[in-house]
Formats: sequence, structure tokens, C-alpha cells
Amino acid sequence: MTLRHFLRDDDITASEQAQILDLALELKASRHAHQPLAGPRAVALIFDKPTLRTQLSFATGVAELGGYPVTVDGRLAQIGERESISDTAKVLGRQVRAIVWRTAGQDRIQEMAANAGVPVVNALTDDFHPCQILADLLTLREHLGDLPGQRFTYLGDGANNMAHSYLLGGALAGLHVTIATPASHQPDPAILARAAELAAAQGGSVTVTDDPVAAVAGARAVATDTWVSMGMESEKSGRTGSESPFVPFTVTAELMATAAPDAVFLHCLPAYRGVEVTAEVIDGPQSVVWDEAENRLHAQKALLTWLLTR
Ligand code: NVA
Repeated sequence: MTLRHFLRDDDITASEQAQILDLALELKASRHAHQPLAGPRAVALIFDKPTLRTQLSFATGVAELGGYPVTVDGRLAQIGERESISDTAKVLGRQVRAIVWRTAGQDRIQEMAANAGVPVVNALTDDFHPCQILADLLTLREHLGDLPGQRFTYLGDGANNMAHSYLLGGALAGLHVTIATPASHQPDPAILARAAELAAAQGGSVTVTDDPVAAVAGARAVATDTWVSMGMESEKSGRTGSESPFVPFTVTAELMATAAPDAVFLHCLPAYRGVEVTAEVIDGPQSVVWDEAENRLHAQKALLTWLLTR
């Protein structure tokens, strides 16, 4: 078995992504159908940043796969400070079947993967949130049907982890991905270029615009995220105040009305009503955010099963 990791959305191919989504649907229908962690075997869940959904869904998922989660508080472990990342990776790799890590720098999780000897999964870094995108794609499959060719629009911080993961993961799925963001918060050019290459191969496309109205017109799915990602708390007033460059990108009912009539609204949560989205939209009939939150469980179980049994 070749060791594989999931550190960014394009660590898997388009067909592997489709296989994982198929497996997620199977596991959603039959929660205990696969038991790759029977034994039980352990999975380390390490959190250097706050968490609710990710800890809950991975802990529940690991148990449902026959294993047990060992949750590590990053404030106690102080990985990279008290002990090097590579030493930590070697210690963990001798005891657990997989490592799930939420941390800041992408370089940190890359170093963990290079030294662990077991699959490492990105549970959010500053650059990517690939498990969330698997859950979102699963949700879109359930609500919209086949993914290739669907028009997907994200509004908000175009330089954050969600925007980057939507670009890569959405491109792999064959979506037409539009990122609507102010000129001051453009996606990383290297990630955008990679996404364009992936999209071309799958028959989709990627577009970045600062025009929220044009971006949403006719879209089948509209997504947003907090304007203040974890680690950016000191920038909160500039990002959320009345002078914020993101204000025109708020998802309102008026904006949603210009999307396709059956369009769905996605938000990875936590959400701030009245900031990036109005309560009317997130609590309204087009919102699929609770399905999306539940689908973290099924998508991550499928990912772990695929990584452990392929
Ligand atoms: N961009 C957000 C996603 C939260 C799930 C953050 O990094 O805080």
C-alpha cells in the first residue's frame, strides 16, 4: 500500500475525489459499513486552533470506523516548540494509524507528513481546508446532482483557506468556480494557476472578480465564510467594520435572488449573521448549511477509509 496524505485538495486526483464522494454517500446510508480502524486502532486529532465541527466529526467518525480518537490539545503539545515536528511525527506514527492536524502553516503539516509514516490529514491550515470542501461537494451532489459543469460562486476573503480550497477542490470536481473578492484580497497566484490547470482538464473553469453581482448571477451554489479567519483576530475591526472592503460581498436575499432559482447557500460555519451573510439567507429555505455540517462526518470517514484501505 502506498502511503498517501491529504494536505491540500489536489493531493488526490479528480477520479479519486469522485471515489471518495461515492464512498461518503455509501457511509451516509450505512454508517458502519466500513471498519478500517477495527481493533480498535487510534487516530490522533491535534488542534492548534479552535474547533467544534472538526473535532466532533472526526472523533465521531473514527469511532464509527471501529477505532478511537486521541485528541491532543496543541497548547499542551506545543508542537515545533517543545519538540520538533519531525520528532513528534515519529512518536505519533509508531502508535496511531493516522494523524489529523489543524494548524497554521502549511509547511508544518508537510513536515509532519514527511516524517510520520502514516497518513496525515489537513484539518485546516492557514492555506487550505480540504476536508470542508469534500463535505461541500458531497452536499452539492445531494442537492444539485452531478457536479461537472455546475456554477459555484464564493464571496468574501479570496485569500483565505476556504477560497483556496474551493479553487482547487472545485476545479477537480469540474465546477465553474467564481471567487468574488475585493482587489485587496486576491487568491494566491500559484494556487489560482494550479486551479486553472485542473479546471481545464475537468471541463470547468476558475474566475476571480471584484463584482459580486456578476459573480452570483445564475449560480447554482453560493458560498461564503467568515471575513475574520482564525489567527486574524487583530484585524477584526478593519475586516468587519463599515469600511471593510468585504461589505459589498455580503450574501443578502437580494443577491441570492439573482442566482439560479434552485440555488443553494453554503457556509462552512461558524457564521456571523449580519456580517458576511444575512440571517434571512442562512436561516432561509435555500440554505443547506446543516446538511453541509453533517456531511463533514461522512466525507471525512470516507477519506480516512480510502487512505487506510486503498
Ligand atoms: N476561514 C475560516 C474557516 C473556519 C472553518 C478560518 O480559517 O477560521
